[in-house]
Amino acid sequence: MKKHTEPKRHLISFDSHTTPHVFTDVLVIGSGVAGLSAAIEAAKHNSVLVVAKDKIDENNTAYAQGGIAVVLSDEDTITKHVKDTIDAGQGLCDTTSAKAIISEGPKRVKELIAWGAMFDKENNHLVFTKEGGHRFPRIIRAQGDSTGKEVEHTLIRLVKESKNIKAFEHTFVIDLITKSGACHGAVAWHAKKGNILIWTKSTIIATGGCGQVYRETTNPDVATGDGLAMAYRAGATLQDMEFVQFHPTTLYIAGAVRFLITETVRGEGGILRNKRGERFMPKYHPQAELAPRDVVSQSILQEMQKTDHTHVYIDVRHIPKERLYSRFPKIREICASFGIDIAKDLIPVRPSAHYMIGGIKVDRFLRTNIKQLYACGEVACTGMHGANRLGSNSLLEGLVTGYEAGIDACKSIQKARRELLPYTIQESAESSKISWLDLEDITNSLKSLMWRDAGIERNERHLLEAEEMIEMWSRYVLDKEFSNPFGWELQNMLLVSKLIVSSARKRKESRGVHHRTDYPKTDNTHWKKHILIKKTTP
Ligand code: FAD
Ligand code: SIN
Repeated sequence: MKKHTEPKRHLISFDSHTTPHVFTDVLVIGSGVAGLSAAIEAAKHNSVLVVAKDKIDENNTAYAQGGIAVVLSDEDTITKHVKDTIDAGQGLCDTTSAKAIISEGPKRVKELIAWGAMFDKENNHLVFTKEGGHRFPRIIRAQGDSTGKEVEHTLIRLVKESKNIKAFEHTFVIDLITKSGACHGAVAWHAKKGNILIWTKSTIIATGGCGQVYRETTNPDVATGDGLAMAYRAGATLQDMEFVQFHPTTLYIAGAVRFLITETVRGEGGILRNKRGERFMPKYHPQAELAPRDVVSQSILQEMQKTDHTHVYIDVRHIPKERLYSRFPKIREICASFGIDIAKDLIPVRPSAHYMIGGIKVDRFLRTNIKQLYACGEVACTGMHGANRLGSNSLLEGLVTGYEAGIDACKSIQKARRELLPYTIQESAESSKISWLDLEDITNSLKSLMWRDAGIERNERHLLEAEEMIEMWSRYVLDKEFSNPFGWELQNMLLVSKLIVSSARKRKESRGVHHRTDYPKTDNTHWKKHILIKKTTP
């Protein structure tokens, strides 16, 4: 049997004697909804440093369109929302976690509103819409289709007002610093300052998802799975990595960025049609266009194959123009820039990688198996979503888990009366001498491979092919030492891809977003369980 390339403990060499130090009680890695919520809470009792590898507002959160699922309407109940979430999760949801997050949601959203977030209203009342799998209209939104921006900018305002929070933008966290099973901070890189060692009492990872490992994705460039990879290298347990959610409807124009066409377009009556103009969803599911996402993505794929076409279409021409333009202003603007008038033309769409359901395994306090290390938001796996996530449950989860991670990080610092204790580290990462790698080519090849072999439909032959290719690239790339984010991102993407593929190979059944054509049935006898992965020698 071939030996698999295990990642080194740290991606770079560094020496604590010669690297500048930064001290903070709490380090929050990531500035999306989860990271900022954690920072705001932790800053009530501690000094907090938030770091983001790009601008503070460049993240998945800022691109969120559809809204936040939350029980705020009189006719809705927590029980109904929990039931919809658990039904979608197909037997793998952690019910306790789903209940806790959904129950806390209304308080957190009301707080966000009190902080100034403006959600859309009619006659002075919040308006609610539906998305796939929600049997009740419970999605609130902002500026029609720009919910994420409103959430992000509200939280940034608070962060900027807080005296206890510092934010470092364009600061790339490379690795966590750990000793005897506890996290003491991170080593990071800043374009102007170079490497820095950040010493902390508690560290919260909120680095979001990894959509960028796929060629087709709704995620922005920052979503390369760095947090998953650094946690794995440090010895954290990861869970459910095979469950990657594919959003059914991404604008498909060759050469254009993959802009999301929110599910709420279907919530407002949008109809999916194939190349021949036929409506097809009713034949796949009783909820038709509003079936859960896994069903819609897989049905679209089948229609694309049947009609031998690269995409399908969303038809909203029957919705009054004024309503359409005011409800989806951003989608109207983006489509118009490609010559598509959404009131008159069909919108070409197809599925793409959207959300990592798995992630760093956390308990109900968002603690990982490494002491003093927390994870929240998309990078964490609370088990809330099981094998499939309902639309708009993610901003909710980020808001609640960020808040709770912030609280527990403070409590644990107080309880342990922890001091900041830097120690000597001299890490020399041995590296190969190969210097003629074309990183861009490997990155693009990896993304194409993942799309082809570990995408919406999987089978043993393709997964094995993917595993072998990733192993081959890993041999060249993982033992090299890079000095810039592009190289570290590729190393992280290779590792995350490997974890997705190996988990997908193990799960020999179809469930939720994990669809195996060679094992098309759900197998509750053998597979009603989670796949956990952990590095053997951290
Ligand atoms: P993010 O918002 O992605 O933030 C991650 C942060 O980590 C960034 O600041 C990034 O700079 C930082 N980071 C990453 N790696 C490093 C590193 N190495 N060093 C330093 N910093 C790092 N969900 C919903 O509930 N409703 C919606 O309507 C919705 N619409 C969506 C639309 C789109 C187009 C997309 C892509 C997602 C959508 N989602 C939606 C999903 C949701 O937006 C995300 O799951 C959620 O915002 C994730 O928040 P987060 O705080 O966990 O991570
Ligand atoms: C969308 O607006 O369709 C995305 C919602 C989500 O991913 O939760």
